[in-house]
Amino acid sequence: MSFFEYQNGHLHAENIPLQKIASAVGTPCYVYSRAAFETQWRTLDTAFGDYPHSIFYAVKANSNIAVLNLLARLGSGFDIVSEGELRRVLAAGGDANNVVFSGVAKSKSELEFAIGKGVRSINIESVAELERVQQVAEKLGVVASIAFRVNPDVDPETHPYISTGMDKAKFGVPMGAAYDAYQRAAALPNIQVHGIACHIGSQITKTSPFSDSLEIVLNLVKRLANKGIEIKQLDLGGGLGIDYQGEVPPSAQEYVTAMLNGVKKHGITLPIGIEPGRYIAGNSGVLLTKVEYLKHNESKNFAIVDAGMNDLLRPSLYQAFHRISAVEKNSTGEKMVFDVVGPVCESSDVLGYDRELDTQAGDLLAVMSAGAYSFSMAGNYNSRVRPAEVMVDDDKVHIIRQREEQEDLIRGESLLPE
Ligand code: LLP
Repeated sequence: MSFFEYQNGHLHAENIPLQKIASAVGTPCYVYSRAAFETQWRTLDTAFGDYPHSIFYAVKANSNIAVLNLLARLGSGFDIVSEGELRRVLAAGGDANNVVFSGVAKSKSELEFAIGKGVRSINIESVAELERVQQVAEKLGVVASIAFRVNPDVDPETHPYISTGMDKAKFGVPMGAAYDAYQRAAALPNIQVHGIACHIGSQITKTSPFSDSLEIVLNLVKRLANKGIEIKQLDLGGGLGIDYQGEVPPSAQEYVTAMLNGVKKHGITLPIGIEPGRYIAGNSGVLLTKVEYLKHNESKNFAIVDAGMNDLLRPSLYQAFHRISAVEKNSTGEKMVFDVVGPVCESSDVLGYDRELDTQAGDLLAVMSAGAYSFSMAGNYNSRVRPAEVMVDDDKVHIIRQREEQEDLIRGESLLPE
């Protein structure tokens, strides 16, 4: 089900025409659907049935506090990778005790903040980090609850930039070292072993990489149990893919069932945590942009739009495909093939190559599937202000982030003295 559909030739977010949002808020602008976020979260939640589970939404996918707040209201936990993300979760009414802290380079001060707030688990990525967590917890006079993020060396069969679970990646503790790492953790006074975590990559469109890595993780859980080290939670990471371009990823039910079958096979009944980001946010938003000019070269037609790679980096960084749709279906009735390009002074500032569109200068386009890793990866390159973000809730429109102001661009900068 999509919450971005045409009604009488006008593309809507739920029951609001996107044209109306562009007139009120301007472009470029991210538009989200509340029902989309909530439906995706609930679909995953329901797929677990009675099986004990937690959903730790990966904040990095879309970290607007309105989004986090909606998910917190549903009972979501959160997967964070920085102090900034934890502060967002807390500002949005999330519960620190329902947070797992991932990331390869947690600083001392970030650990102090997170452990001080009582996060559920520090997902540790190296033995050096374990020693640091012990020091910080000792200084705070508390016991820190931890998991190791292990690296099962499984190929997620996705884009190399978003593969994380292979031996050549910087992420996680290699399987060969994990057993000893847990023994070390069990011996430290301010550490309590809570779980085991694993995240192998993103935009995964098959169940087999998940099942394969689960199998490897469960074998380690059993080995640890024999040694008296009890794992209390399996955190199986995020990674479930979505339809950007006709991909057919497993459904939430197929994905969850694959995991439940995996644990059943081993007679294990531990609670399962997952860290979905893209599945919840990806198709819950679009980027609304206006065509500034058309340009026709000998070999190419360009639709030059007011959103660029600074607003939506995915196409330039990963050759990612996003569908691009005309907001109004009724332009000239004549389609042409365009490269949809942005204003940034880089040849790679292309939102989409070879798109068949019926569009004119002044028309609006919607770049689809832009709810995840889109605003959250936006920047100010070319001294461009970051776009506004809007949440549609049925027939209501809420601005959940104002467009940045020109003054914001030089905040914190200063001239040298005379
Ligand atoms: N857990 C951990 C430890 C992660 O590193 C990630 C994503 C997730 C969960 C959520 O994964 P998801 O369910 O969203 O696939 N910027 C890239 C994606 C980077 C993903 C980074 N880690 C993109 O735009 O495709």
